[in-house]
Amino acid sequence: MRLLENNIQSYDFYIDKENMRDEIIKGLSDPVKVISSKFLYDHRGSELFELITQLEEYYPTRTEMKIFNEKIEEITRAVGDVHTLIEYGSGSSNKIKALLHNFTSLKEYVPIDISRDFLFQSSLELAMQFPHITIKAVCGDYMAPLTLPLEAAGKKVIFFPGSTIGNFEPVDVRKFIIKSAQLLEDGDGFLIGVDTKKDTYILERAYDDAKGVTAAFNLNLLTRLNRELGANFNEKQFEHLAYYNEEKGRIEMHLESQCDQLVSIGEYEFLFRVGETIHTENSYKYAIGEFQTLALECGFKPSKVWTDDEEKFSVHYLEK
Ligand code: SAH
Ligand code: AVI
Repeated sequence: MRLLENNIQSYDFYIDKENMRDEIIKGLSDPVKVISSKFLYDHRGSELFELITQLEEYYPTRTEMKIFNEKIEEITRAVGDVHTLIEYGSGSSNKIKALLHNFTSLKEYVPIDISRDFLFQSSLELAMQFPHITIKAVCGDYMAPLTLPLEAAGKKVIFFPGSTIGNFEPVDVRKFIIKSAQLLEDGDGFLIGVDTKKDTYILERAYDDAKGVTAAFNLNLLTRLNRELGANFNEKQFEHLAYYNEEKGRIEMHLESQCDQLVSIGEYEFLFRVGETIHTENSYKYAIGEFQTLALECGFKPSKVWTDDEEKFSVHYLEK
């Protein structure tokens, strides 16, 4: 634990290099090449994600923010006298900033993110803006077992905005919600933003914008692997690909090889055929009832749900 300001502590549970190399090599050795979307978020990746959130085509962020702004009184009532707020995948912590003014009983905020510099930087800003709240910034992989530095007393609420839950595979999503329920006591809650199923055109534009920001976000993964693992990807020989897989209810993001090519990472060599892809992200979409059923099966009572007029995005409050 390191003390950064009076009201901020940092915890670092993430060992990047070795884990990352092993996972990348394993994924690229699969018959269908795959890399976990968590590796999209180095510092540059986090910056690019922030730019995505401002794009006209990327409706989730502004729609969720509109729901938070318009329904803030009901959300505050549902959350009640919260003492500890835990946020998974906090990124810039922008969304919590919009809520903190209303959660007046809050004593500690525990943001968890894999993108270290970005997490600590945004936590510092938050600590200065909200000096009465203790901020415990945890750098870690939220899929891994983590012992969070939580005070025992008071009501706990988990905050998981942005539909980041959509990036989990169906088996993992269940494990994650069950694990979240285990962290909580009866009466605690889970406030979660979930993107809904909708028209393919709207979905595909959101993940393949005209300015190419999402393409840059996806391709930045290769730049990261070159820098951090000494790989020799030629970014110009891969293209961003994003499409809606309706059967699976998910947007798939890939990097498509534009020619036959060999890529090496240390002593490992990987052959890419023209048109072959690395699958870099899934973003599952859930109908409102579908997500409520999932929550119920994993130990939560769906208590409230808020949406925009077009039901483009949903914010659920689940009770333990
Ligand atoms: N909550 C913000 C950011 C969403 S982007 C919003 O709603 O806008 C997803 C965030 O999750 C990024 O900050 C990324 O670094 C983090 N993340 C992705 N995979 C992660 C993992 N396995 N463990 C911890 N953080 C992760
Ligand atoms: C963080 N996550 C929910 C985003 C999403 O919509 O799946 C990441 C993203 N990928 C491409 N654009 C945005």
